[in-house]
Amino acid sequence: MDKNFYITTPIYYPSAKPHMGHAYSSIIADFFARFKRIDGYKVHFLTGTDEHGLKIQRAAEDKNIETLKFCDELSQTFRDLSKILNLSNTDFIRTTEDRHKKSVQDLWKRLYANDDIYLSKYSGWYSVSDEAFYNEDEIDNLDGKKIAISSKSSVEWVDEESFFFRLSKWEKPLLEFYKKNPDFIKPESRKNEVISFVKSGLKDLSISRKSFSWGIKVPDNDDHVIYVWLDALTNYLSALNYPNTSNELFKNFWPASIHLIGKDILRFHAVYWPAFLLAAKLKPPKKIYGHGWILSGDEKMSKSKGNILDPIEIIEKYGLDPLRYYLIKEVSFGNDGNISQERLEDCINSDLANNYGNLCQRTISFALKNCNSKVPKEIKLNKEDKLILNEYSSNVDNLRSKIEDQNINYYIDFIVNSLFAANKYFNDQEPWKKKEDPIRLNSIVFTTLEVIRKVSFMLYPIIPESSLKVLKIFDIKESDINFSSIANHDFLKLGIEIKPINILFKKIEKDKNNV
Ligand code: ME8
Ligand code: MG
Repeated sequence: MDKNFYITTPIYYPSAKPHMGHAYSSIIADFFARFKRIDGYKVHFLTGTDEHGLKIQRAAEDKNIETLKFCDELSQTFRDLSKILNLSNTDFIRTTEDRHKKSVQDLWKRLYANDDIYLSKYSGWYSVSDEAFYNEDEIDNLDGKKIAISSKSSVEWVDEESFFFRLSKWEKPLLEFYKKNPDFIKPESRKNEVISFVKSGLKDLSISRKSFSWGIKVPDNDDHVIYVWLDALTNYLSALNYPNTSNELFKNFWPASIHLIGKDILRFHAVYWPAFLLAAKLKPPKKIYGHGWILSGDEKMSKSKGNILDPIEIIEKYGLDPLRYYLIKEVSFGNDGNISQERLEDCINSDLANNYGNLCQRTISFALKNCNSKVPKEIKLNKEDKLILNEYSSNVDNLRSKIEDQNINYYIDFIVNSLFAANKYFNDQEPWKKKEDPIRLNSIVFTTLEVIRKVSFMLYPIIPESSLKVLKIFDIKESDINFSSIANHDFLKLGIEIKPINILFKKIEKDKNNV
């Protein structure tokens, strides 16, 4: 089986301050990267910044800063964000790097050599904010201004010499490709949207601009810069040292396992990108997953209403893991999700403090007092103990395949239910009444500790720091975590010492905070 996994986030336009949508994409990608890693995969996880194009050039001009300097500063805020979010990315790419420029120019040359590029003239609508061309039927009037219907962003008329990519030629091959690779576009609803777009007919795509200079030069034609989306998409190859296709990174990781993106950039990833790659005789990625948007409900977009917008502020107030947990759990993956500070607080209290935190706290302090600070050695598991432990053994493959389908919600529901079940088990078994029967008391403690170990392994991709804090009491390190081992009940060595644990998640006193 293929034990390599290559996952990417979109590369972000650094002209916007990092917001919750960026944090969301990145946290979800980190979840998959970490999960695959503990499931034995070699993982390459890429994120970065998309720094060319008119949007960035104008943003720099507005601030009166030299463009590259502007990008240096803002790209750094995204690099910082990746640290703040505790992303386990293995690379961070900037499209202004030489490795990327070489890669884009090489791809261009390949397309050109294959007669997929020709010079002509573009007349049509362009949105600088979306960096996208629009047809007449995709445009509307709003207060005397022309806007793109899909994104509501304003468009301007462009009339200039431009190189074109023969996208029309790839209409049939693309439809065939989608058919042969039914998992290429996920979720299903997005796939249908893409297929009907392609079926409605593809026009050749303008892929260079002459009227500004902030971009990668077209090979052998200094008057043109390459269209920022052809430039940006190629980052996924640049990070694998393309055009060198015989190096280890490229050999191990191309085609990418999954490009995780927001639904607004689906067309670029699911239509243009595979067309470019097919034309260049390179394999398209295995999967494009278009997630939904984090909504803050237009008119409700104010701090006083408790809407969460700035990830950094939220992390300062509540900590990182609560935010990661909340975003992963509360947004039904694939759909849009409305988030609020109040729901975040509920989530911290009910799931993190009362469920996971409480189970860890009570079991560990009981074991410290009653089992000589050790994982009990003399045990004899009964039916009920085995029942709760076997729930994991019988679900390992199931959980793995749910993740393979990006069914994050199933995975997290399983965790929440297991935590409820474990708290209930501990209550029902009443180990505090078993002091006369040490083997029984030991068995209950062992079983609960082993459940904590298993759940902490499962929680690691979601809340890495907190789960590692818990695992530290057993002296388990990050590199010891292994998803398959949730099936076994002998991971915790009997008789090993256990250490005390500090409060994991502080409960939020809601009345105080929400006045
Ligand atoms: O599109 N909720 O960059 P970008 C969820 N540079 N996701 C959101 C969101 C929200 N409210 N707002 C934005 C670009 N996003 C290009 C990508 S990739 C070769 C080039 C997501 O900074 C958005 O859907 O505008 C996209 O996936 C990502 O943030 C980057 O957006
Ligand atoms: Mg955007």
